[in-house]
Amino acid sequence: MSGVTIIGTGRHVPGAPVPNDALARVMDTSDEWIQTRTGIKQRYFARDGQGVSDLGVEAAKMALDDAGIEASDIDYIIFATMTPDYFFPGSGPLLGAKLGIPGVPALDIRQQCAAMPYAFQLANGLVQSHAAETILLVGADVHAGFMPWTDWDIVRSEAEREVARDAYERATKHRGLAIIFGDGAAAMVLRDSQTPDGGFIGAELHSDGNSFDHLFVPGCGFRSIPYVTPEALLADEHIPHMLGPSLLKKAVRTLSKTVRSLCETHGVSQDDIDCFIAHQANERINQAVRQALHIPPEKIPSNIARYGNTSAATIGILTDELRRDGNIREGDLLCFLALGAGLNWGAALLRL
Ligand code: UT7
Repeated sequence: MSGVTIIGTGRHVPGAPVPNDALARVMDTSDEWIQTRTGIKQRYFARDGQGVSDLGVEAAKMALDDAGIEASDIDYIIFATMTPDYFFPGSGPLLGAKLGIPGVPALDIRQQCAAMPYAFQLANGLVQSHAAETILLVGADVHAGFMPWTDWDIVRSEAEREVARDAYERATKHRGLAIIFGDGAAAMVLRDSQTPDGGFIGAELHSDGNSFDHLFVPGCGFRSIPYVTPEALLADEHIPHMLGPSLLKKAVRTLSKTVRSLCETHGVSQDDIDCFIAHQANERINQAVRQALHIPPEKIPSNIARYGNTSAATIGILTDELRRDGNIREGDLLCFLALGAGLNWGAALLRL
C-alpha cells in the first residue's frame, strides 16, 4: 500500500538574524552559555504586524513552485501553529485567502513543537479516505510576542543604549525560555506516492496533559473572565512558563522509546533509516537521543544553530534544507521525531 509523500518543500524566516550577543544586551546571558547549553547561535524574529500566515504564505509559494503545481491544485490546508495571527480564527483560512484559494478546507492543528508527526498521520488519513488529494501542510510560529523585553531596537541592533535595570531583570527571569525560540515557517506539499510501500508508513503519537505545566502560557486563557486582564499582563502571565531541565529529560526518554517502538511495530530496522529528522529544541536533546539509539551523527542532522527552536516550523525547515542540498533523496527512509507542549510527542516513518 502507498501513503502520502512529500512532493515539494519551502521555508521562510523573517528579517535579519539576531545573534546571541544581541540577547545578552537585554538580559543576563552570554553567547557562550547559549551555544554550550543549546547549540543555538542565532534566530529570527518577526516584526510587529507580521503573523504566521504572512511567513507561511512565502514558504507555501516556494513549496508549490518546488512541487511544480499551482495553488489551485491544493484541495486541503493543514496549518500547524501555537501562535496564530488572531486568537481566532485559525491561520489556515487566512493562508488560503492569501494564496488566492478561498473555499479550500483549512484545518489548524495545535500540537506545538510535536506537530509534524501528527500532521503526517492526519494528511495520510485524509488522502487515503479520499477527502483530499493534494495537501498543503504549513508549520509556522511567531514567538516574538512572547519575548520578555520591549527594547526591540536594541535586540535588532538598531540602537545602542543601556537597558533599564528593571527591564533587564524582568527579561533575565525568563532567559531559559527567551534564548531558545525563534520565528519561521515551512511548507510541504503532500500527495499519495502511488508507489507500493512508498510514502507514509506509520506514526506513533502520544499526548499527556498531566505534564501540561512543563510548557504552557499561564494567563490569557478562557479560564479567566475576561481572558486578558491588565493584572495578568503585569504579572507576565502571557509569557510561557517552561520547566526546561525536566522537559529536556522527558524529551530524551520519550523520543528514544517512541522511535524504538515505532520501528518495532512496522518491522523497520533502525539501521535502514537514512535520516532522522528531529525537532530542534536543544542540540543536547538530539545528541542524547542519538546516543541512546546508536544513530551515526551524519544521520541526525541539525540546523538549530541558525534558527533556534521555531516550534511547528523546525522539522519543515530542516526537511526543506536537506532536500534542496541533496542530503535526502527519493527512496530514502525518513524518521521524523518531536516533542512539544501538551505534552505531545511522536515519531513518523515515511519513504520519500
Ligand atoms: O520545543 C519545546 C520543548 N522545549 C524543550 O525541549 C526545552 C528543553 N529544555 C532546555 O532546552 C533547557 O532546559 C534550557 C535551555 C531551557 C535550559 O538549559 P539547562 O541546561 O537545563 O539550564 P538550567 O535551567 O538547569 O539552568 C542552569 C543554570 C542556572 O543557574 P544556577 O542556578 O545554576 O546558578 C540558570 O539560572 O543556568 C542558568 N541559566 C542561564 N544562564 C545564562 C538559565 N538560562 C540561562 C541563560 N543564560 N539563558
